[in-house]
Amino acid sequence: MKDLTIKIFADGANKDDMIAASRSKSVDGFTTNPSLMRKAGVADYEKFAKEVLAEIKDVFISFEVFSDEIDQMEREARKIASWGKNIHVKIPVQNTKGIFTGPLIKKLHAEGIPLNITAILTVEQVKNVASCLRGDVPSIVSVFAGRVADTGVDPISAMKECAKILKPLPKCELLWASSREVLNIIQAQDCGCHIITVTNDIIKKLSMLGKDLNELSLDTVKTFFEDSTKSGFKI
Ligand code: E4P
Repeated sequence: MKDLTIKIFADGANKDDMIAASRSKSVDGFTTNPSLMRKAGVADYEKFAKEVLAEIKDVFISFEVFSDEIDQMEREARKIASWGKNIHVKIPVQNTKGIFTGPLIKKLHAEGIPLNITAILTVEQVKNVASCLRGDVPSIVSVFAGRVADTGVDPISAMKECAKILKPLPKCELLWASSREVLNIIQAQDCGCHIITVTNDIIKKLSMLGKDLNELSLDTVKTFFEDSTKSGFKI
């Protein structure tokens, strides 16, 4: 596999997958979000988080607040932070009314709570968030590069700019979120991101990194041949 310096986090909320990845030490950390938890069928947030934390103790894992009111977000953030030392509390950059969560980010981070600021799509948001973070407390700034790309915009130059903005904060890590393909790992590393979070589907394809293309062409032809043979095609 190609040499990687970027940290790879697993993005998902399937407990078995998370525990397997933790035991095999195949990833450097974990991210979850309410949508991933819903997709995985999580009904009891706290029970899920505590079961996962009982297994994952030595790397960081992000759990997101889910209220829309800032004071409720604060209550949830404090509760989530109390569940373990290896937690980044995920705070969305704004609530559904478009209110910037900066003051809450500043307050929690000033107390030394590790945060992951999420749902960021613009360089302007990164600038605003950076002004609320301390350099000596761990934090992650999650920029949804994949969602930017979904709009037809190449996220590369923006990601490079975000890396520059966050450079003065030694304990702040730029995370490439909503990755779509293995190529994003190389792109994220080249942009200066510290972390990329990837779904299980991409983790399964990690062995493809740096694969010889002639070999891959041969594998592709073999698959076509096997499938045609299995289907018994005749013309
Ligand atoms: C990770 O922290 C993000 O929540 C996740 O990567 C978002 O992915 P999506 O944009 O594909 O939903």
